[in-house]
Amino acid sequence: DKGNHRHFMQKEIYEQPVVVAQTLGSYLRPLEEQVALPDMDFDLKSIERVAIVACGTASYVGMIGKYWIERFARVPVEVDVASEFRYRDPVLLSNTLGVVVSQSGETADTLAALRHMRANAVTTAGIINVPTSSMAREVDLLLPTHAGPEIGVASTKAFTCQLAVMAALAVNLARAKGRLTRDEEREIVRHLVEAPAALNAAIEHDEEIQAMAHTIAAARDVLYLGRGPDYPLALEGALKLKEISYIHAEGYASGEMKHGPIALIDDSVPLIVLAPSGPLFDKTVSNMQEAMARGAQVVLISDAEGLAAAGDGPIATIEMPKVHPLIAPLVYAVPVQLLAYHVAVAKGTDVDQPRNLAKSVTVE
Ligand code: F6R
Repeated sequence: DKGNHRHFMQKEIYEQPVVVAQTLGSYLRPLEEQVALPDMDFDLKSIERVAIVACGTASYVGMIGKYWIERFARVPVEVDVASEFRYRDPVLLSNTLGVVVSQSGETADTLAALRHMRANAVTTAGIINVPTSSMAREVDLLLPTHAGPEIGVASTKAFTCQLAVMAALAVNLARAKGRLTRDEEREIVRHLVEAPAALNAAIEHDEEIQAMAHTIAAARDVLYLGRGPDYPLALEGALKLKEISYIHAEGYASGEMKHGPIALIDDSVPLIVLAPSGPLFDKTVSNMQEAMARGAQVVLISDAEGLAAAGDGPIATIEMPKVHPLIAPLVYAVPVQLLAYHVAVAKGTDVDQPRNLAKSVTVE
């Protein structure tokens, strides 16, 4: 049931504050200001490396997880798309935690990667939305997302819930490795608790985003830029746009622009820049200015502080609430999803059932 929404995708974007709160609720102990994982029969303290494997949107959760786990737990992380992992004969050292991320829990390549890890004595955890799925039954440690059924083929609410669980995993690993003080953990919990309200604040920009969709819908190519944990989000923005609007889109790490992609820029190319204020902001803005000097039509997504600092070069801006860098990828996912959604609606494509795509890819 779509309720009063026109498409399942729109309904699922709007559900995010509630389902992310539900998901966080099963990992946070607000009174103790602690993050907890379900019981496990192995010791997180013994984990010396992490290998994350997933496909598509879920693989971007893995990439963001790499930034978080390495930063907080100081444990090295490698991330692979499952179709590459399973055939590249990966080196699986002892004390590796293998993590699969999947909405359906049935994606053929991810399931095969999970089985490959288990066959090689790797301890596995799964961030999975469907609790009865094959992956949910086969992992050593099930870390459920509580997104509820996701009907739209383009993943939205599963993504933000997967990020919430990934953050919980990063914090637990950091604590187990002796890398996190009580005070630091308290502070992280406070930021995570703020995520649902920040998601709501992001959704409030829906009409503004809808208003700019017609301009983007006329483009042939769209580029997305981000740095740090917002780089995988740029990839997610581009994937979302191409899969439902059929507009060619690419995401790049901001610093990579001048190593090639900047050659694509002219005044017909919208450039969506994801740049929360913070330590990485100035660098990304200088990449944005290089592109603007070559005619790029920039849509800047940032908070009030960032928008003020960036000046009036962008053709449009979307103001996000000011949030801690840890939860920025969750919050900035919303404008990226809404933009893809409204562009697709403006183009008249079948938003919930894009051509050539299936919700669950159970063949490789
Ligand atoms: C994109 C999308 C896909 C899935 C991918 C993995 O919007 O939905 O890229 O993320 O097929 O699916 P799951 O998470 O079910 O393993």
